[in-house]
Amino acid sequence: MSLRTDIKGKRVLLLGACGVLGRRHAEILAEHGASLALADRPGSDVLELAKSLDARGVEIDVTDEPGLVAGVAAAEAALGGLDGAIYNAAITSEGLAKQSGNPFPAFEDYPTELWRASINVNLTGAFLFAREAGKALKRNGSGSLINIASIYGVVAPDHRIYESQPFNSFPGYAASKAGIIGLTRWLATLWADSGIRVNAVSPGGVYNDHDPAFAAAYGNRTPMGRMAERDEITGILVYLLSDSACYCTGQNFVIDGGLSAW
Ligand SMILES: NC(=O)c1ccc[n+]([C@@H]2O[C@H](COP(=O)([O-])OP(=O)(O)OC[C@H]3O[C@@H](n4cnc5c(N)ncnc54)[C@H](O)[C@@H]3O)[C@@H](O)[C@H]2O)c1
Repeated sequence: MSLRTDIKGKRVLLLGACGVLGRRHAEILAEHGASLALADRPGSDVLELAKSLDARGVEIDVTDEPGLVAGVAAAEAALGGLDGAIYNAAITSEGLAKQSGNPFPAFEDYPTELWRASINVNLTGAFLFAREAGKALKRNGSGSLINIASIYGVVAPDHRIYESQPFNSFPGYAASKAGIIGLTRWLATLWADSGIRVNAVSPGGVYNDHDPAFAAAYGNRTPMGRMAERDEITGILVYLLSDSACYCTGQNFVIDGGLSAW
């Protein structure tokens, strides 16, 4: 059997396209010939990004259920069907750090609305996206749904390395990322006989101009001794979108420089 790693012409919807990793995923998937629809929230530069990559752009706020339903349908219509869908949107600690006020209260005082806000985007958004994109993949007769989780859905953070940083880990992140891995497995077995493969990808910490002390502290926690580079995560997406992954479903691909291996 020959390897079928080619994703040329695969019609893929990437939701959460405008962030640190999403932008790079979009560029690399476009370079590999995927026919892309890029989605991100209103107010992002998703329409400009899509234009620059000869892709379709769709504004979707995942906390707006009717908007998400309409946005996924619009992407499916624009591409003439879907072969793949990637849920990459999230509230992350570095995203939260840009907000005013104190986005990282002590757990003992943690407000329910902050918990709900992260669960809404990171987990309920993934559920809605899976429901809507799943219908499109079923109409296509086959496809690959990929949920972006995190190493912190697999192992706990070492809270000590965040102590002097402007960002911190937060409870809804770990819970939502563990939840998205559970949702992935549940959907994978539900849809295994209908040609839809469902997998999760859990990146480790990706270097994004962090302060050298943090990058060193994080790196010391990994067998490879460093954070990931942005380009090091997309390869697994190319594989999972391709027909090479045709026997692969229900898995969580951990791309973490070995962090969870010791
Ligand atoms: N960067 C890392 O080190 C790292 C590590 C592990 C996992 N991840 C995961 O990878 C994915 C991308 O991470 P990133 O670092 O690029 O994050 P990021 O914050 O740069 O990007 C997240 C994207 O989600 C979008 N988003 C947030 N709320 C939304 C909403 N309500 N509706 C629609 N879109 C919304 C943002 O606009 C943004 O484009 C996330 O799922 C994250 O949890 C990242």
